[in-house]
Amino acid sequence: MSFAHYSPKVFDHFLTPRNNGVLEDANGIGEIGDPECGDHLKVYVKIEDDIVKDIKFQIKGCPAAIACASAMTELVMGKPVGEAMLVSDDQIIEYIDGLPEFKVHCSALGASGFRVAVMDYSIKSKLFGATEG
Ligand code: FES
Ligand code: FES
Repeated sequence: MSFAHYSPKVFDHFLTPRNNGVLEDANGIGEIGDPECGDHLKVYVKIEDDIVKDIKFQIKGCPAAIACASAMTELVMGKPVGEAMLVSDDQIIEYIDGLPEFKVHCSALGASGFRVAVMDYSIKSKLFGATEG
């Protein structure tokens, strides 16, 4: 496999992924996979006061998918949930200085994985949040 088409930033996020691992006190978890290739992403979020307070991920995928998931966590961390939900595949790709065309689909795992985790949070908080405060 050739790595020549990856930007230095992709390498950086691939070799040193940010926020990689399990978030023990997550209040939302999203899992998505691409059945075509068997790639899989699990995203843990901690949302408080409508802010993405913390996020972590575990992934099985190629270097581009790992870099995109890592970049996604940096893009959404600390943002209001509504704003973070709008982070797009294109923004992720731009953040890591581009991806070769045939790897663009790998970025979709990051953005959709985050959205699934937020949906999980909102379902849980509606179910269990009524008694709070
Ligand atoms: Fe399968 Fe990128 S995640 S090729
Ligand atoms: Fe699975 Fe790229 S090959 S996301």
